[in-house]
Amino acid sequence: MPDAGCCRVVPQSRWRPDRGARLDGVRDQRRDNQKGGVGKTTTAVNFGAAAAELGHRVLIIDLDPQGNASTGLGINPRTLESSMYDVLLHDVPMDDAIEAVAVRNLFLAPANLDLAGAEIELVPAFSREMRLKNAISKVRDDYDIILIDCPPSLGLLTVNALAAANEVLVPIQCEYYALEGLGQLLRNVDLVQRNLNAELHLSHIVLVMFDARTNLASQVATEVREHFGDLVCQTVIPRTVRLSEAPSFGQPITVFDTASRGALAYRDLAREIAGDPPSRA
Ligand SMILES: Nc1ncnc2c1ncn2[C@@H]1O[C@H](COP(=O)(O)OP(=O)(O)O)[C@@H](O)[C@H]1O
Ligand SMILES: [Mg+2]
Repeated sequence: MPDAGCCRVVPQSRWRPDRGARLDGVRDQRRDNQKGGVGKTTTAVNFGAAAAELGHRVLIIDLDPQGNASTGLGINPRTLESSMYDVLLHDVPMDDAIEAVAVRNLFLAPANLDLAGAEIELVPAFSREMRLKNAISKVRDDYDIILIDCPPSLGLLTVNALAAANEVLVPIQCEYYALEGLGQLLRNVDLVQRNLNAELHLSHIVLVMFDARTNLASQVATEVREHFGDLVCQTVIPRTVRLSEAPSFGQPITVFDTASRGALAYRDLAREIAGDPPSRA
């Protein structure tokens, strides 16, 4: 099973073909089990926090039952009154689930393990692929950027993310199996694009976990750029210990270690992808 990722939605009114909603990377499940994720959550949380720092109003939707984006932003999944599970299965308004986090302009729609049941419970549900899109439509204009952090499998939760997004952002790890599973993700994006959501497109590929000490990382980066050209962001996210430590403190890297290489890289990425925030009167 491939592994899909983090999607972004921007309000229709402000949507440009090169900006929008997005979903991240793909990887072979077998490798996931051995190696952990590809960097979807890390990218959603830290790109989101850096864009919020620039002045964008950012909503991160945690769509992974593991709730890593939620805990990584300091939200305790056990104390939630409502979560994305209630939004998707019990028609709780998105606004009721959204929490402010300790970063200005940054908001979170959290998830906890309840969401694991959604994958099954959604199967017989009415309009099961469109639940997230419908929930987002009520809050869409309240945010400049909506990021959806996807679970590691391509089930109904991910299909909901793809149906709700207009852009897909894929992090690619600068390692030997970098492109493994990517074909499957692209086919799924294509399927959703043709059947559920004509706006959807792969908008950005971000090279992550780049280790400048290895030739392999540079070779992979070159190969990905040859293959995907301008879709690949100029900004490359380095592999750093600080980036992996920040979530256990419930903080994005921009707060946890504000001058670190990881923080600088995610700020560059936010400037590259999101640009300046809209001016507000
Ligand atoms: N640039 C990086 N440098 C170091 N560790 C990273 C980096 N990006 C992610 N990680 C770590 O790798 C693991 C998987 O990342 P994560 O973002 O959770 O992946 P996914 O959401 O795709 O499963 C986590 O432990 C995370 O802290
Ligand atoms: Mg994750």
